[in-house]
Formats: sequence, C-alpha cells, structure tokens
Amino acid sequence: MMGSFKKEVAQGLGTHPKTLPSKYFYNKKGDALFVEIMNLPEYYLTRSEMDIFKTKSLQLIDSFEVEPNIYFELIELGAGDGSKTKELLKKLDALNYSFDYYPIDISANALTLLKKDINTVLPNVSVKIQQGDYFEVLNSLKESKNPKVILFLGSNIGNMTDEQASLFIYNLGNNLQEGDKLLLGVDLIKSKEIVLPAYNDSKGITAAFNLNLLQRINEELEGDFNLTNFEHLPEYNEKEGIAKSFIVSTTDQTVKIKALDASYHFVKGEKIHTEISRKYNDALIDKIISDTDFTIGDKIMDSKKYFADYILTRN
Ligand code: AVI
Repeated sequence: MMGSFKKEVAQGLGTHPKTLPSKYFYNKKGDALFVEIMNLPEYYLTRSEMDIFKTKSLQLIDSFEVEPNIYFELIELGAGDGSKTKELLKKLDALNYSFDYYPIDISANALTLLKKDINTVLPNVSVKIQQGDYFEVLNSLKESKNPKVILFLGSNIGNMTDEQASLFIYNLGNNLQEGDKLLLGVDLIKSKEIVLPAYNDSKGITAAFNLNLLQRINEELEGDFNLTNFEHLPEYNEKEGIAKSFIVSTTDQTVKIKALDASYHFVKGEKIHTEISRKYNDALIDKIISDTDFTIGDKIMDSKKYFADYILTRN
C-alpha cells in the first residue's frame, strides 16, 4: 500500500494547478525552521498570543467557568513547546485550581521534553502526556465525564479550509459534553502590510520552510528537485483574509520522482500551492461554528488586537 505522503504528493503534483499539503512541512528540519519562524520579528502571531497568555491569563481562566475546587481536564491539541500554556498553568497553579494538563501531540519526543520542562518550573502541575491522533485521544478521554477545556492555539485552525475547520470543530463537539470549553486561538484579518512580511521574512526562513517540502520529496521519495530552480511566493488577499504560500518554478523543467515512477513538467512561472493561513473576524467564526454544537462565549485579544482567543462553549 502507498504511504500517505507518497500518495498525496502523487495526487497533488498530478493535478492542475499543482498542490502539496502543508502538513508535510513538519519533519525534523521543518519543525526546527518553524521554531525559528515563531521568533522572527515579522511573525507577530506567536508574540501576540503570548501577550494574551501573559497579561490576560486571569480573564482566560474566568472564561473557562471552572471553580478552583472542582476538578477539570485541560487538554491541548498539538502542544509544541508549551510556552504560552505555561503562563496559564502558572496562574492556575498559583490559584490552586484542581486540574490535570493533557498535552496531545503526534511526537512522543516533543511531549517528553514538554513534561520535563513544565515540571521543572511547576512541580505541582500534573502533566499527563498523550501521544497520538487528536481524535483518538479525545475519544479515550471522553469516558471520564469530567469538565473539559480544550486548547487549540496558534491559529493552527487557519491552515484548514473553512469547510475543514467546521468539520474539525463539529468533531471536537462530539467528544465533549454540555458546558465544556474550546479555546480557539486565531489570527485576525488585518492589512497586507502586516500580514505579508510574516510569510516573507527578510532572513528567508519562511522560504526555506516552504521549499523544505521539495527537499523532503527528494529525500523520502527519491525526487530530483533542484531547489535553486524554485522560489517561495506568498500572497495575501486582504478582503478575503486569506494568506497563501506557493512554490514557483523559475524555469521550464522536468522533475523525476523515482518512488512514484513519474516525471512532472513545470513551465516557467508555474506555481505549486502549499499552504493557506486563514485570518478571521467574528462573522467568519460565527459562520464556521454555525453547524457545530458550539456558541461563542468570550473573545480575548492582545493589546494590538492582532490576535484573538475565542472561548467557545459546547451547548
Ligand atoms: C502553524 N501555522 C499556524 C503557521 C501559519 O502562520 O499559518 C505556519 C506557517 N507557515 C508559514 N509561516 C508559518
């Protein structure tokens, strides 16, 4: 059977216009590049959400509608390095809330590091790492019936189409009970002068992150992409609020991918669409959750109003 990377590359490069899924950015090199992106001066998203977690953690906790003496489960989807969540954990710990923290991630290694890191600073916080697929883990946690707060931060939802986002939130709702919360961190629609540089930094880290997809095909599927013949191209439609990343062929060329037993022709200027990074406003969030079992409770923004953490309640 064809592995999913192989299958999706064959599918994406075999269609017109050509596409490649952004989920394959995240191999070892891609993870390291993404950490660099989060620290770039142009990439305001991480800093903006960190501002919320640092300065408004009490407001976040209030919006969860949990009592200090009633146990709840704080579940994070795709925990990463947990730096934002640590701010929240510090506050919950200081206020003596009764909870366990369940970070879910596909990478066991990232989870082990995260637990160690949190327990160095917060030895009293119980970290119950969950390695695996989000929905498999949520399904197993569903049994407990304890109140739950789910964190889905970093505008990760923005890498989905609106239809995929709706379905994703709908499925989350299926794993929750009435009154449970979903904290959804999203980047807000703003001008292209701010958004475009975030996806086209001056050091070229985002370009390397995007082009790493071709490198990955070379390494894992025996491709012969010559990376010097391709360029990173970001676009942002301010009216729609959608940023898109492309890889553009700078010349007419044919690329062979041995594992697919196929060749792909590129004309000069031809684009491969690799990523969408959706930006939101209240109307879009309303629309996306309209066919789910959630309603908007609170909306908490950073001081510049670049980013919002929406607190959704499961009806
Ligand atoms: C993970 N995700 C929310 C990032 C974003 O902003 O869409 C991925 C990224 N792509 C380019 N830079 C950062």
